[in-house]
Amino acid sequence: MIGKTLKQYEIEAILGKGGMGVVYRALDTRLHRPVALKVLSPEFTAHDDRRRRFLQEARTAGSLSHPAIAQIYDVDEEGDVTFIAMELVEGKTVRQLIMDRELDLPGAIEIAIQAAEGLSKAHEKGIVHRDIKSDNLMVTRDGHAKILDFGLAKLVDSGQSGGTTAADLRQSMMETIARTQAGMVLGTMAYMSPEQARGQEMDHRSDIFSFGIVLYEMITGELPFQGTSPIDTLHAIAFTETRPVTTVKANLPSSLHRVVARCLRKQTQDRYQSSTELVNDLKAVQKEIDSGITSHIPLQERLREGLQSLKDLTPGEWLWPTVGILAGLVMLYFLFQNLESWLPTFLGLAVVGLIIYRRVRTRRHRLMNQFAAKVKKMPEVRIIIFHEDQVTVLTDKALARTYVRINALMDRINRKKYFGDDYSVTVRDQVEPEEERRALATPGVLYVRKDVLGES
Ligand SMILES: Nc1ncnc2c1ncn2[C@@H]1O[C@H](COP(=O)(O)OP(=O)(O)OP(=O)(O)O)[C@@H](O)[C@H]1O
Ligand SMILES: [Mg+2]
Repeated sequence: MIGKTLKQYEIEAILGKGGMGVVYRALDTRLHRPVALKVLSPEFTAHDDRRRRFLQEARTAGSLSHPAIAQIYDVDEEGDVTFIAMELVEGKTVRQLIMDRELDLPGAIEIAIQAAEGLSKAHEKGIVHRDIKSDNLMVTRDGHAKILDFGLAKLVDSGQSGGTTAADLRQSMMETIARTQAGMVLGTMAYMSPEQARGQEMDHRSDIFSFGIVLYEMITGELPFQGTSPIDTLHAIAFTETRPVTTVKANLPSSLHRVVARCLRKQTQDRYQSSTELVNDLKAVQKEIDSGITSHIPLQERLREGLQSLKDLTPGEWLWPTVGILAGLVMLYFLFQNLESWLPTFLGLAVVGLIIYRRVRTRRHRLMNQFAAKVKKMPEVRIIIFHEDQVTVLTDKALARTYVRINALMDRINRKKYFGDDYSVTVRDQVEPEEERRALATPGVLYVRKDVLGES
């Protein structure tokens, strides 16, 4: 395939193999952008009716647009080859990150929140993923979550069987296994929801169950349901209670256990009924973890910062307050002419205005200090520089968790900013000593790790 062209896509390299076919890196020669091209195996597309349904599903998924969802650009056919062009995600799958031990607890929670927000957007539009697993969740190089393959699992899913007796159940599980072996990769089985294992109707709450498994796996490094054979795994999914994450791994907050457990309830009506609820609970856990790790900036330091920030005002920054004061004086002048009795009110307003102005002005510095205070707790961080709305963080070897945490903190700071351009952050690891020395000489160094100072 490599070197070949499908419609306007030039196939460049192989990215991976999955249950439905092979994924290639390709170039869209029309739009001049790189894409991931999933070329479906012929056995999935031989069946006309199925193929039509699948294409329909893929097109619906293509209407989804969210930063945590890899966009589907195009579904097309050439000859008897059916393929899907989608956003190329540069990074690693969560499965790889878990194997390489690149995630830590705050990193895992942050990725989970972003992914759950993506899920929630899709569910609101009535689109169910059906194949949430750690292979279908990637983390970009700059630390953002992306869900892959939204709505593409219809091909292997037939649904609707499953009775109530033990024999029926066994029968429907065997059917699920047969379907899975014909279709998806076997790894997928461990992420199935109980209703999916039984071949019953699925809805967005099935995604929530599978999401719970990925969350469990990110936190503990283990899968919650894993039998020695496929039928064992399905049996465990349908009937066995998992070990709480808090017993698999020490020092986890019990609130986190509650979130995971609620995703993994056997009955759909006992789970989170919407991913928005899930996002909210995950955010509460994140807050709890954050407040446990980070302490407040001492008052003295804050006062010093406040004074410092007044001294650093540039001429440009003086301009607007001066204009404001002049405008205020002009207003007061006119008021004096007419209503002398209003004077106290207006003086009061002016004082309030000044206070608000001061708060907005120092907020920028406060926010940046908050950011630096959190970032410097990460042991791999060597230097933090803040210069003209651009933050540069130099680190020892940076792992995915480094990018995830730093970018998440920056996103939060940008959301708290009232106005002005967003700050941007660059993480650079393993910088040459010479370049690092130069960096230290630039203005705006916020933090230098002790041993770094010693070295240079
Ligand atoms: N949009 C993408 N951007 C970058 N890499 C991708 C993309 N989609 C898939 N890949 C890579 O290709 C591999 C195979 O993907 P594929 O979706 O075919 O298999 P899977 O996720 O293991 O199984 P499933 O068929 O159930 O989704 C992935 O593990 C991933 O490394
Ligand atoms: Mg996939």
